[in-house]
Amino acid sequence: MFRKLAITTATALSLGTGAALAAGGGGHVTDHDFSFEGPFGTYDQTQLQRGLQVYTEVCAACHGMNLVPIRSLSDEDGPGLTDDEVRAYIEQNYIEVYDEELQDWRAATPNDHFPESSLPEAPDLSVMAKARAGFHGPYGLGLSPLVNGIGGPEYIASYLTHYTGEEMEQYGTYLYGNETFDGGWTQMAPPLWDGMVEFADGSPNDVESMAVDVSAFLMWAAEPHLMDRKQMGFTAVMLLILLSALLYLTNKRLWAPVKKAAKARQPAE
Ligand code: HEC
Repeated sequence: MFRKLAITTATALSLGTGAALAAGGGGHVTDHDFSFEGPFGTYDQTQLQRGLQVYTEVCAACHGMNLVPIRSLSDEDGPGLTDDEVRAYIEQNYIEVYDEELQDWRAATPNDHFPESSLPEAPDLSVMAKARAGFHGPYGLGLSPLVNGIGGPEYIASYLTHYTGEEMEQYGTYLYGNETFDGGWTQMAPPLWDGMVEFADGSPNDVESMAVDVSAFLMWAAEPHLMDRKQMGFTAVMLLILLSALLYLTNKRLWAPVKKAAKARQPAE
């Protein structure tokens, strides 16, 4: 019986890995520890500011973030820029939006959203960190995402750092080997190289560090109210515990006379 069970388990396991291999290249996601994971995790403001810088100087050349209002850069739980800094950000980066009324381009205001992707093949990154949950597999009780996060930022960080160095041309398009991207080949050329972005505070600017910073920033963009939601969840759980305790005590009190009477009715031993 035990042997049979062991064999079945072994077969199931080997079938599992077989299926993963058969799915082709891609799918590799490295786990990173982000400050916002866990029930009490919060965004690291300086990391979000570095991520914003990487996004602006590198990614925004092709990608847009059209669901995110520029003024949210001043969110306290987010990058936390001052209003003046937000205006300076727009000015220094010449951020323009197309005004339907004017039928022309004009300088953005903090109330405008980030521009759309300028390269049609490059997807909008507003909610990408939530669209690509990197951790698949048995979610079980649903506790894994609570502790480890949903894996979206891990997916992005892995995607940016797991180029194989191989290239090929297919129907006039260049494709780059990537261990994370589905199918193993992506149209996005490796966007980062060591030292590409200079951080004012001298933070490390190797490819890996920049990839992690920009991924944290994109997680914030996709889920700016993560902290509020965690706090709300925590309060809800606390209230439920309190309510359970009250119910337990009330229940005990309510039945106490009945129990006492029943005990009294029992014949003495
Ligand atoms: C030169 C243009 C260019 C730059 C710069 C660029 N990307 Fe991309 N990106 C693309 C294109 C094109 C795709 C579509 C890839 C595909 O579908 O094969 C893409 C896709 C993506 C995806 C989606 C992957 C998926 O699973 O569908 C993410 C995430 C991403 N880029 C993040 C970034 C980040 C972060 C940066 C900045 C560090 C960046 N990109 C810089 C062109 C660019």
